[in-house]
Amino acid sequence: MPFGLIDPAVHQDPDACDAWRTLRDSHPVSWCEAEGDRPGFWVITRYQDIAAVYRDTARLSSEQGNMLDTLLTGGDSAGGRMLVVTDPPRHSAVRKVLQGAFSARAMAQVADSVRTATRDLVAAVVDAGGGDFVADVAAQIPLMAICELLDVPPADRALMLDLTMAAMGADGTAEAAEAAADAQEDILLYYAGLLPGRREFPGGDVVSLLANGEAGGKPLSDAEVLLNCYNIIIGGDETTRLSSAGAVLALIDHPEQWQRLREDEGLLDSAVEEVLRWTTPVTHLGRTATTDLTLRGCDIAAGDIVTLWNTSANRDPDVFADPYRFDVSRTPNRHLTLGHGPHFCLGGPLARVELRVMLAELRNQVGGLELAGPVERIRSSFLTGVSRLPIRCTAAGPTASSS
Ligand code: HEM
Repeated sequence: MPFGLIDPAVHQDPDACDAWRTLRDSHPVSWCEAEGDRPGFWVITRYQDIAAVYRDTARLSSEQGNMLDTLLTGGDSAGGRMLVVTDPPRHSAVRKVLQGAFSARAMAQVADSVRTATRDLVAAVVDAGGGDFVADVAAQIPLMAICELLDVPPADRALMLDLTMAAMGADGTAEAAEAAADAQEDILLYYAGLLPGRREFPGGDVVSLLANGEAGGKPLSDAEVLLNCYNIIIGGDETTRLSSAGAVLALIDHPEQWQRLREDEGLLDSAVEEVLRWTTPVTHLGRTATTDLTLRGCDIAAGDIVTLWNTSANRDPDVFADPYRFDVSRTPNRHLTLGHGPHFCLGGPLARVELRVMLAELRNQVGGLELAGPVERIRSSFLTGVSRLPIRCTAAGPTASSS
């Protein structure tokens, strides 16, 4: 029986890697028994098996939900209407509508804003000699970028940040879950208010694309438009924040890698991929079997919940040489952090832009980098990473060059 994967505390524990190693080696496909009202579920831990399940959307559906918590508590009410929990062929038609918002041209525009904002935020931290990297830098950029994509008016952006933090803030307590549900509703209401204007005067933003887009020859329903705006926010905010903050922690924990990156601008792209692999902000994804199937000799029945643990896949020694080593020059690096197959992260190009710009600004502006207090980690079985990262830093010396 896999160790207590439902318990958020398990995912705060960096030593859990031994447990993953054991599962990968001895029980790569294992069954977590039902307990009380909670159904049982399959736990898949090897890279190749996980990648195969991601590709197999016909036999392993996302429509009941793609998070263990949701799957264990009756399924996702947005199934079939929000991209990430919609199966092909509807999925492909809606994804086509959204794709335009992530074109190379759109990304280049957002990258300019991301660069300016990141430069200023990092400069402020360096001027102050340090700060909480999560609050001062990592939390600011992703939502700003998302607001650009959705063309949220600047005056509303602080409200959107508060609501998003509250919507994602469920930490297992009943109060937080209630506050999160209220905030989620407020976010949907906010976007509902933008719809009439975006239908009358459409732009190239995500809300306009969805509000005026068609899938299967028909306009998207209002519910689909709103849920997909929400998908962009929940998909792109906390995930990117966790990987940015995790990048800084990894560089502090591995000063020799920080030094290599400072000395060689050519390592920026591979460093972005290694940060994505190392931090793996989305611990797992879930699917539901639509038919009986067999995986590594295990009989998975139609209706069974199947969970795919990226945390484990990204440390699989069959795919990654010396997987527990953080190496900013690692190539190849085919991590599963952004998923795989038809649901591969739509915002991947944006996540990469944000991380690259942040690493470039750290190189340009920061010299000495160290911890200044205890690190706090989020409590969730779905997302993992740091929520507070107190750092001390000094201004860059002459080694780093501008990029
Ligand atoms: C899908 C992770 C950034 C929007 C996914 C999936 C993963 C993922 C694992 C696949 C879900 C599945 O197969 O069920 C991440 C991580 C990010 C990140 C780790 C940052 C480091 C972003 C950003 C955006 C975004 C910046 C948008 C602004 C989406 C959307 C989907 C998705 C819309 C659904 C794609 C589909 O179902 O076709 N993401 N994501 N993500 N992500 Fe991201």
